[in-house]
Amino acid sequence: MKLNDIEQKIKSIRDQINRHNHLYYISNSPEISDIEYDILFRSLLSLEEKFPEFITSDSPSQRISSAVSSEFKQFEHMSPMYSLANCFSEKEFLDWYKRTLDLSGYGQLDLVSEVKFDGLAVSMIYEKGIFVRGSTRGNGIIGEDVTNNLRTIKTIPMVLMGNVPETLEVRGEVIFPKSKFDQFNESRKTEGLSLYSNPRNLAAGSLRQLDSKVTAERSLDIFVYGVGYSIGNDLKTQWNVLNYLKSLGFKVSNLSSLFVKPQEVIDFYNTLVDSISNEDFSADGVVVKVNNLEVQQQLGVVGKDPRWAIAYKFPSIKSVTKLKNIELSVGRTGRISPVAILEPVNIGGAIVRQASLHNFDYIVNNDLKINDLVVVERAGDVIPKVVSFVPEGRKGVEFEWIFPEECPSCGSKIIRLEGESAHLCISSSCPAQLKRLIEHFVSKPAMNIEGIGIKQISILIDNHIIYNQADLFDLDSKKDEIINLNGFGEKRFNNWQKSIEESKKVAFSRVLVALGIPHVGLETAEIISRNFKSINNLIAASELDLVSLPSIGPKVAYSIQNYFSNEDNKYLVNQLISTGVRFDNSTDNMVVDSKLHGLKFAITGSFDNYNRADLVSIIKDLGGIVSSSVSKTTNYLITGDNPGSKLDFAKSNEVKIISIKEFIELTL
Ligand code: IVH
Repeated sequence: MKLNDIEQKIKSIRDQINRHNHLYYISNSPEISDIEYDILFRSLLSLEEKFPEFITSDSPSQRISSAVSSEFKQFEHMSPMYSLANCFSEKEFLDWYKRTLDLSGYGQLDLVSEVKFDGLAVSMIYEKGIFVRGSTRGNGIIGEDVTNNLRTIKTIPMVLMGNVPETLEVRGEVIFPKSKFDQFNESRKTEGLSLYSNPRNLAAGSLRQLDSKVTAERSLDIFVYGVGYSIGNDLKTQWNVLNYLKSLGFKVSNLSSLFVKPQEVIDFYNTLVDSISNEDFSADGVVVKVNNLEVQQQLGVVGKDPRWAIAYKFPSIKSVTKLKNIELSVGRTGRISPVAILEPVNIGGAIVRQASLHNFDYIVNNDLKINDLVVVERAGDVIPKVVSFVPEGRKGVEFEWIFPEECPSCGSKIIRLEGESAHLCISSSCPAQLKRLIEHFVSKPAMNIEGIGIKQISILIDNHIIYNQADLFDLDSKKDEIINLNGFGEKRFNNWQKSIEESKKVAFSRVLVALGIPHVGLETAEIISRNFKSINNLIAASELDLVSLPSIGPKVAYSIQNYFSNEDNKYLVNQLISTGVRFDNSTDNMVVDSKLHGLKFAITGSFDNYNRADLVSIIKDLGGIVSSSVSKTTNYLITGDNPGSKLDFAKSNEVKIISIKEFIELTL
């Protein structure tokens, strides 16, 4: 192929990838399978590897940059990014409308109502339809250049579709999906890292990472809602803007509406108040904008807030209730956290009975007392927390809570290390810790044993049926005892057995996570698995060996060494090894229940867009076998253009001949 043709070919693959990205991420209507997409993507990567001179910054392969910055460059916005004035009631909203109407001099104003996303505002600049730069809002005049991090967000197009203007600055809100927030915090907890208090902070924290590989691992998303600076378009209304942005390939919320009467906006707002919690993003109100862009210009800006828009905020999801008691919860590492026991209260549609108090200092610093009336907030729609007490609610019956001296589970003395905020139970035989450890062991990111939760684990431990994680693999010997326990039964038991058996196939990295070594989450475990390959190598590794790996610091290295220096832990690992749990990565890529398991393939001819090496690795990934020649035992011959003699052999030996399309269907 001539260089020119190769460049064209690369361009055509990129266009296809961009189109399929849009269909998948924005329109939710994919036309090809993940495997087909994978093949397409790999063919781009291999062409770009061979012809690096054709790599461009807008290529889908360049979403993750390897450059790590030491700080963010400042970026002056092409036009200011304003904020919004707020209103909190129907009356305040109608006052705003009346004021705006009077100022405009018109008899009526069309209004666009949009969701007010609770994330981080960003600006993205496109030159001739290509994403060139992106930044955070900052102070509205100067933001931070987060171009590389924005590139990692799949819903941000790198190349615009359709009729693209010369220069376009698009504005939107980067969010972190609510559905993934808890899971994310859970894995932070596993790694001993601090937790994010709500999806907004997580979105902001993720976008402000100096290493865009970290941002790429966070499930960030975006909704765009406006155009800043632009040359070469003819937009007249905000409603046009939203539709235009959609046509260019951006993710625009379909919850926006165009109204002609303010009462319609109020109805829209009331509907959203009831339904917004069903959405997978956090929102804190409705943004109402004057539709006509010329009228917007005429109305202008006061301070930082334009007169032509207002944020009509949702009612706060805080409530006041009584703090009845404070109990202690013991985590798997022995960390003891105080939990507020509340008079049940409805907060934004959910009944809340308990709330987080973080640690002892939090109680002291906020002067919280038993019997206080307290403000409880459902932060970012997730874990409720006690925010403060209500001073006017004090009647003299309130009393200070004293941190107990003994672990509520095992009675051993609670300690607090110098300079640390956490209290700890350091007993090695604390049932509460063991229950939480086993809960962690069976959890999805670890061994993924289904149907067993903290309730079942507690019953099994309290009835002396299991004493540690390895005992789960020997439940059969106690079957009669178990199925006679209240609420268990044979069907449930058999399901457990299946899931426990399946768990023996999970990858070595996940087994490492399952052990619950402090600070070892999935990311660290994968690095360890890749580099040490087996548990024996890991146990033999020195702290120096460990810290020489990327992303493993002295704290993690110490934690790993410390874990394996404990004889009980070594005993547990040996017990788990003898049950058949994987402690090396040699079979991690062995796919047993895959679509192509045991099937033998041969390939002949060439394929448009598909590279032979990629096909081979896909067949292998799905458990199939590829041979370079056809024999009578070959199950399928995949045939492309200009097939060779393999086709003749297949025909005369009744080997099934399939096209690339039929092959793809086999993988689905
Ligand atoms: S318009 C008038 N539209 O709210 C210019 N902002 O409080 C303001 N926001 O910084 C931007 N959803 O981060 C606009 N549909 C929406 C929005 C929205 C969320 C945020 C944005 C802005 C803040 C202002």
